[in-house]
Amino acid sequence: MKSANFSKNISSVKLSPIVSISELVRDRAVGFREQHGEDFVYFQRGEIAYNTPAYIVDAAKKALDAGFTRYPRSGGENVLKQAIVDKLTRVNGAPGYTPENVLITYGGQEALQLSFKLFEGRIGAGFSPCWSCVLENFVPFCDIDFRLVPLNRDFSVDWEKLETVLKDVDFFYLNTPQNPTGKVFTEAEVRRISDLCKANGAYLISDEAYERIMYDQVPHFSPAAILEDHIISCYTFSKAYAMTGWRIGYVVSKNPEVIRLGKLGDYSQTAGVVTFLQHAAAEAITNVEAEAEALAPMLEAYEARRDLLFEELNKIPGISVDKPQGAFYFFPDFGAFVPAEIQGEARKTYIFERLLEAGVAVVYGSCFGDHFTDNVRISFSATDLDEIRLGIRRIREAFVGVASNG
Ligand SMILES: Cc1ncc(COP(=O)(O)O)c(C=O)c1O
Repeated sequence: MKSANFSKNISSVKLSPIVSISELVRDRAVGFREQHGEDFVYFQRGEIAYNTPAYIVDAAKKALDAGFTRYPRSGGENVLKQAIVDKLTRVNGAPGYTPENVLITYGGQEALQLSFKLFEGRIGAGFSPCWSCVLENFVPFCDIDFRLVPLNRDFSVDWEKLETVLKDVDFFYLNTPQNPTGKVFTEAEVRRISDLCKANGAYLISDEAYERIMYDQVPHFSPAAILEDHIISCYTFSKAYAMTGWRIGYVVSKNPEVIRLGKLGDYSQTAGVVTFLQHAAAEAITNVEAEAEALAPMLEAYEARRDLLFEELNKIPGISVDKPQGAFYFFPDFGAFVPAEIQGEARKTYIFERLLEAGVAVVYGSCFGDHFTDNVRISFSATDLDEIRLGIRRIREAFVGVASNG
């Protein structure tokens, strides 16, 4: 057999480092349990511990019984596309879309991958820290020259840097609420970013995976509400509806070419999303009463966890964090605990390793780009209040008295 020269783009895709971290944590958990008789506190994954609400599961069963078992319509089932159009008005303050502006995908992941694919071989940019899948997956898969615009240390936007980078790019990736910081970009910020993109002839790929996981009555502003042709909005059912395993998401754009090409891309790789699941997803967003009843307790629980972590993290000398206003992540800077002589690659995992020894699993900052390598991501998507208390106790024990400059 000739030595295969497989696709450079596919060969350079890496699994998200968060997956590798989870595998490592699983291996180490065994030793930790043997040594201490206790389990790790798992702050490392964006997985959700809740089951999908019953009204959505029932709708999937009903759709199966009703015979929605055949090939899906290219681009998505009308019932779901119409439900999304209504949801855009009701939830996103974005009337003015029709089913032709919607493409159903396998999760936010496929929505984003198809959007990035539109710019194959071109130049893109996004803020750093940046969701790891973009860096390790979409960018190499689509052969994109991707430039990071670092946020300031307090996660505010450096407008000068952004303006400079936008001059050269074909698109900008914006994630709000943001993974890993929990930062929510305000309406004014989103509009300014969108205007800058437009002025520079760049598209705006908007990733709103956490749009419904918001705290303190802070509104999420969706770029889709700007209703312009350069905006490509990507959504998912995964997070808010505890539907991570269903793999349903969607792209919305006023630009017919985006939807037409996205449809072709989707058709060539999957020929559409499982038909009966689309019917259940439509029920998830049209049965507004059941939705409110199902989402409220999950959101309350996330908010209580966020409040506890906020209070307790700030009590640790050397750490100071702002309250995230969305998603379920903290991204604190642990630099005060890294001895000055630890540099380079060893520095990137130093805090992660110390925390793992103490029985706490997190994600190290370099998974999200090279600018916040002393930070770690703490996810509270699947940890209850007792686990959080235990995790905080272990973090304190690992670092108390060792702050070098905090
Ligand atoms: C920022 C961000 N965008 C998109 C997604 C995609 O989620 P899914 O493919 O499950 O819809 C995730 C999942 O973790 C995410 O964190």
